This record gives sequence, structure tokens and C-alpha cells, in this order.
Amino acid sequence: MTDTPGTPTDPTITAPDRRGSGAFKWDLAGADEIPMWVADMDFAVAPAITAALRRRVDHPVFGYTGVPDSYLDAVVEWERTRNDWPLSREQLVVVPSVMPALAAAVAELTRPGDRVATFSPVYFPFFDVVEQQERVLVQVPLAERTAADGGVQYAIDADALAAGLRGASLLLFCSPHNPGGRVWSADELATVCEVARREGVSVVSDEIHSDLVFPGERFVPWLTTGGATDRDMALIAPSKTFNIPGLPTATAIVPDPAWRDAYRRALAARMLKLPNLLAITAAEAAYRGAGDWLDAVRRRIHEHYLLLRELLADEPGVRVHTMEGTFIAWIDFRGRWERVDVAAGRDEASLSRRFGTLARRHGVWLSDGRQFGPEGEGFMRMNLATSRENVEEGIRRLRRALAEFAPQ
Ligand SMILES: Cc1ncc(COP(=O)(O)O)c(C=O)c1O
Repeated sequence: MTDTPGTPTDPTITAPDRRGSGAFKWDLAGADEIPMWVADMDFAVAPAITAALRRRVDHPVFGYTGVPDSYLDAVVEWERTRNDWPLSREQLVVVPSVMPALAAAVAELTRPGDRVATFSPVYFPFFDVVEQQERVLVQVPLAERTAADGGVQYAIDADALAAGLRGASLLLFCSPHNPGGRVWSADELATVCEVARREGVSVVSDEIHSDLVFPGERFVPWLTTGGATDRDMALIAPSKTFNIPGLPTATAIVPDPAWRDAYRRALAARMLKLPNLLAITAAEAAYRGAGDWLDAVRRRIHEHYLLLRELLADEPGVRVHTMEGTFIAWIDFRGRWERVDVAAGRDEASLSRRFGTLARRHGVWLSDGRQFGPEGEGFMRMNLATSRENVEEGIRRLRRALAEFAPQ
């Protein structure tokens, strides 16, 4: 199911058929299945990106490559104009992508056996970079509260955070938040900062979703909160923003010179230094020429989110978390699971898994919230960055699965 130019919502954003293009989620999906799990977008990238790639591909040598100053300047300019974030070239460290950079930061800032905290739920590879490096994972539960629009959203419970950070070395922070769609406010960041400083914990802030905030929302970079220590850092990337995760690159912002040197050495020791030529080409073109495309995409995702809210509004026991950014919706089915026949098994973990399997039989593939931590139990995550037709059909199929699984 594809969008063609002329789609009423926004003609500049199209969603071509990705089957057979090497797209992970589409290649794994059944013939009539809509994959709404992996967090990349189905939208065609901005013309500025394809034009720059074409130009570069016309030169038939693809040798070892450095990072041009023009690329660093493009990142600096982007953050200055988009987020009012004054950076300098020297503070930027280009890394292969966000997760290896995060893993290297964990390795360098902590020792085996150290406690490393994350919130829960959160993007689950955070757990892997901690546990697979033999650090002790501490999951701090996010609280839930009523959002300004009357919906529900995650909030930071300062006491739970203080308890989780006690004796910890590092907090891996996801800002904006995947999967909850929160764009943390300056006050909330101040709370995290205050608790982290009190407990003597460094913070690595994964800001990969920072460009994907809804119209009217403002992203506040962690490093502008005022209380960052000389071991704090942030990670940004063009991959989610411009839909180029298959051309991976990312940037670490490391303000402190001593920590930056140590971090560069840590990357070098892991052979994570060389950039990818086409990734840098695409990313620079995007930072320089895809701002309008991004704004259209943000509006489009916001429309899809409102549609999801509307189409699920009359489903008892189902709540879509209030989103302020990202392109993935977080849907709470816990109230609905209450209706599932006890005889059919009241173990929630198996209920969520069973529901995911049933939804796939109905032709829609979502992420099981349990992956994102214990607090994700009873939730599903749905990627809204696809054609409107897919969003509508995906929701229809989800509702059919719900009617069968937990009848009203
Ligand atoms: C919060 C977060 N961090 C990191 C990543 C992946 O980053 P990368 O592909 O640059 O390693 C994702 C992808 O979904 C994400 O949501």
C-alpha cells in the first residue's frame, strides 16, 4: 500500500512500495502484512539527499574517507537554528551510529560490575549495552500522569530516580523518549540533572529522536540544562530524522576536552573511527537541504497520531499515550486485557505475546511492549511513519484482532 504524489495530507511526502528493496521489516512481512514495528519510516527521503548521493556515486572511486569540515559545520548550523544549541566543531565526534557509540561510552565510563541505570520502559538495546558488558542494569520505572490534553503520559518520579541512581555510575537517558513519545520539558531535565548530580552519576543522553518533535513542542538538549558534568555527553544522528538509518552515522557531542580525548581513544581501540562515505554525503545534504521535508514529515506523523487516537477512542480499555514527538505510538492495552477470559490464561506476558501473534494473523505487525522493560507489559508499539492508507488499514486490523482477543 503506497502513497502517490497528490495524497491529500501532504503531497511532498510519499511512501513508495519498499518490498524487494532490502527493507528489513518489509522483507520479513507476509505478502499482505503491514509491518509497523521496526522504527524506520516508509517515506521517500528528501530530494536533496538522493541528488547528493547521485552526484557522489558518479565519481567511481569509494576509498577511505575522512569527515569534511563542511559536514561538521552543517551539524553545528542545524543545531543552532533548530534547537538554539550553540556547538563548536571541536565538540563533535563522528561515530558509526548511536548504539556502538553508546556501548563505547558505557565501556569507558564504567567498569564491569558497576551499576548503570536506564528508565523503564526504554529502547531495549539500552539493556543490552549494559548487561552484555557485564555491568549491572538498574531499571527506574517511569511514572504515569495525566497529560495536558487529558490523555496519559510518562513522567519522571524523582524519588524512584534517586533510589535507582544510588550507587550507580551512569544514567543512559533517552530524550525524547522511545517508546513513550515524551519530549522532556526543561523542568523535567532539571529534575534529572539535580538527582544525577546529587548521586554523582554521569549522564549519556541519546537524542536520536530530537528532531522529530511535534509542531508546537520544543526539544531541550541535555547539555544545555546547566548542570552537566565534564563526563556527560549526548548523541544525535541524521538517521531517524531524515530516514537514512541504512546509511548509518551519528555524532557524539562531548564538550569536555579531556573526556573527548579519552572517548576518541575508546572509539579508536574498538575500530569505530572511520566514517562511511555515502552516509556522510547523505547526512550533510540532509542537514543542509531537508529541513522543509522534515517539517512536512512531522506534520504528517502528527496527523497519523491524531487519527490513531480518534480510531481507538471507542475501544474500551485501550489508551494511546499522549505523544509529543517521535514517530512511534505507545498503546496501553492493560485495561482491555482485564476482559480476557481467565480460563484462557491471565499471565500478562503470555497475553501480550499471544495478542501480538494474533494481530499478525490479522495482518499487522507491532512491537511487543514487554521488550522495552517490565513497565512495557501490556503495551504495543506502533510505527506511524507510513502511508495514511497503511495507518488506517493497520488500525482496522488491530481492531479486528482486539475484537477476537478481548471482545467488548
Ligand atoms: C533511542 C534510540 N537510540 C538508538 C537507536 C538506534 O541507533 P543507531 O541505528 O544509530 O545505532 C534507536 C533506533 O530505534 C533509538 O530509538
